[in-house]
Amino acid sequence: MNGPRIAICSQKGGVGKTTLALNLGLALSQLGHATTIVELDPQESLAASLLRPNRSMAGLHEVVRGGTTLEDALVHTKVSGLSLLPVGDVDPLEAPDFHTLLSNPEVLGPVLDGLDAEIVLLDCPSGITGATLGALGTSTHALIPVQAEPLSLRSVHLVLEAMARVREHQNPGLSLLGLVLMMFDRDAEASLEVVRSAWRDLDPDVLFETIVPRNPVYLEASLHGVPVGFMAAGIHPEGRRFQMLAGEILDRLAVKEETHAGPVQTLL
Ligand SMILES: Nc1ncnc2c1ncn2[C@@H]1O[C@H](COP(=O)(O)OP(=O)(O)OP(=O)(O)O)[C@@H](O)[C@H]1O
Ligand SMILES: [Mg+2]
Repeated sequence: MNGPRIAICSQKGGVGKTTLALNLGLALSQLGHATTIVELDPQESLAASLLRPNRSMAGLHEVVRGGTTLEDALVHTKVSGLSLLPVGDVDPLEAPDFHTLLSNPEVLGPVLDGLDAEIVLLDCPSGITGATLGALGTSTHALIPVQAEPLSLRSVHLVLEAMARVREHQNPGLSLLGLVLMMFDRDAEASLEVVRSAWRDLDPDVLFETIVPRNPVYLEASLHGVPVGFMAAGIHPEGRRFQMLAGEILDRLAVKEETHAGPVQTLL
């Protein structure tokens, strides 16, 4: 599998990584690009969204431990072209060991090599340690959601610094796909100010034009266990938004296949 492998990661928790992975995965597959979402976070938020609650939870954990095959763990969703590799059944006491195991890209990489999707999205846990480092070590790109809240832009540097180290020591092909502003609240001056400073300070090649607003429909969608696009007959406007973001991402991937981005630390 030589297509784009995109690690969705952030230093901060709760900024919208899983929401981005799920809804972008749906949008990319709706646009005709077979996509697999790989869940790396033992919190199992994605599996909770996409899978029936009583489904057996074999997943990545069992694949890397040799307890099941990739073929058996991979879930083909009802949406044509969209599949999910759930994280599996990770005992909370075992989670630190699992993170350590996944921090080695030589453990995660061969599993991902076995996927035949055109695009692979990696839903990382928060923080730039453990499984996130393994994901960066075996990905072609990193995609960083930034919550439109004060101080959140500052933590982006931590991801960029980690990326620079990973590029130097493990994965020279890793590049920054971009930053997506998430949970923008147009009624909150502080949120507006984050968006203004992102527009002012960030290179337009880095910041995606599509901004995801704060909207209760995201919470409702996660309660119903579906992507936001499924929250209306036809397609919900928020689902359409992710198709626009997917279009931007596909454009960048086409460009970056020819020219890899320069040193990530100079981008902010
Ligand atoms: N645009 C939005 N508007 C309102 N709520 C949102 C929005 N995006 C995400 N949420 C909600 O915010 C919470 C956190 O989102 P999400 O789980 O995607 O973040 P995360 O970065 O994956 O978190 P973690 O670091 O714990 O993995 C979820 O309850 C989600 O439904
Ligand atoms: Mg998450």
